[in-house]
Amino acid sequence: MRHFLTLRDYTKEEILEIVDLALVIKQEQKARKKHHYLEGQTLAMIFEKSSTRTRVSFEAGMFQLGGHALFLSNRDIHLGRGEPVKDTARVVSSMTDMVMIRTFEHSMLEEFAMYSGVPVINGLSDSYHPVQLIADYMTMVECGRHIDPIVAYVGDGNNMTHSWLMLASKLGFELRVATPAGYECDPQIVADAMELAKTSGAKISFTHDPKIAVLGATVVTTDTWISMGQEDEKVKRLNDFVGYIVDDALMALADEFAIFLHCLPAYRGVEVSESVLEGDQSVIFQEAENRLHGQKGLMVWLDRHR
Ligand code: CP
Ligand code: NVA
Repeated sequence: MRHFLTLRDYTKEEILEIVDLALVIKQEQKARKKHHYLEGQTLAMIFEKSSTRTRVSFEAGMFQLGGHALFLSNRDIHLGRGEPVKDTARVVSSMTDMVMIRTFEHSMLEEFAMYSGVPVINGLSDSYHPVQLIADYMTMVECGRHIDPIVAYVGDGNNMTHSWLMLASKLGFELRVATPAGYECDPQIVADAMELAKTSGAKISFTHDPKIAVLGATVVTTDTWISMGQEDEKVKRLNDFVGYIVDDALMALADEFAIFLHCLPAYRGVEVSESVLEGDQSVIFQEAENRLHGQKGLMVWLDRHR
């Protein structure tokens, strides 16, 4: 049985298998072909943070696969009142077929997975957001930007950046990360990615200059400067990230056929301009829709590997 907590645990071949499966399932869905690969199964979804895309995509996706999803907010279950993770894991996993968790500390997911009898999926932690990267890579494939890509990530060295580091270092492509000083990625995750890159051939670089990162890039991406749980740092962060907005001037430095990705929610005029977000190079809503298809592919893949 496999869990899906970080792309670090997956080989290049496995990541591509999940994306391929997602693309097939997307076609079946578009053709209105029945695809009840998880008939009668139940997905428990534990949310300790807000969500629009993750909740809707997992819940709708499980239903479309012939199963059922349970939304469990930590405000409603005993986990939020202090019932231990290890007890919750054994109880919930004894009654369901798969569990998705959105939480703060990545170690909570690891502990849950250790005690779970069914696959556990990371629906976002403070460290990683791997299901988003399945959708992002799927979107790159659909746009033909997966061949020798140069990905520029501009912004905070956060869970999204860490997931890009894992994807690039596993698949072996070029990733340039531009963060302000003081907002760099977790050094341990960077070290892991650099080690993996030695085998995969990934070219990973870091800079404090967004222009250097974006020059000639074929994929440009960013994320909010204020992640969930960092609301108290808003004023300081808005000040420290000045100059990191992805606007038309920055996009003009990228390859002329570059696409723009954003996991959403986006803050217009903050990390990205309205014109880039709504512009011709932006594929953000295709990317958001691919959350549905990507996760359906992932859940079917996990079911086949138990
Ligand atoms: N991108 C993403 O995970 O969105 P939600 O927070 O709305 O789930
Ligand atoms: N980095 C953001 C991603 C939201 C999908 C956060 O953690 O809030």
